[in-house]
Amino acid sequence: MEIVKTLHSYFAYIVLLILILAVINALTGWLGKKEFRFEKDLRVSLFALILSHIQLLIGLVLFFVSANGLKAIQALGMGGLNAPARLLAVEHPFTNILAIALITIGWSRHKKKTDDTAKFKSIAIFYGLGLLLILSRIPWGQWLG
Ligand code: HEM
Repeated sequence: MEIVKTLHSYFAYIVLLILILAVINALTGWLGKKEFRFEKDLRVSLFALILSHIQLLIGLVLFFVSANGLKAIQALGMGGLNAPARLLAVEHPFTNILAIALITIGWSRHKKKTDDTAKFKSIAIFYGLGLLLILSRIPWGQWLG
């Protein structure tokens, strides 16, 4: 299903961009001890949460329809996958599920905090970790190559 892959591929730019913005915004808010404002801070973190969940859903569909996802594991077996194939079928999907779980935890922790600096800190750490995990397992060569 080429269309799902194309969608996932273009959506990745948007997701990475908004995640980077959300992490930078949370870091400057945390370290600068800023006030957590609804219009900017809540909005950028919520957008990042929603867009990464949409990417998660597209990714899950892709995992089941793509020849490079579950089908590759079924055809070759876990041990039969070489490194690039394992990246696409195993490492990228599972690392990103974990990353988006971390982002979701950061979001719900920030909501429970009353202190503005603690809100920024929760988002900075959990979204930041999630972003690093995502960046560590992007199939860069296939995507941009
Ligand atoms: C924020 C999270 C994610 C980002 C930024 C992301 C980004 C990408 C990118 C850039 C590619 C390469 C596309 C191309 O070659 O044009 C890709 C491929 C892929 N992604 Fe994701 N992805 C994310 C989450 C997920 C998740 C959660 C899953 C599955 C559960 C998933 C499954 C896949 C699969 C199976 C491929 C290989 C598709 C193929 O080669 O046919 N992705 N992803």
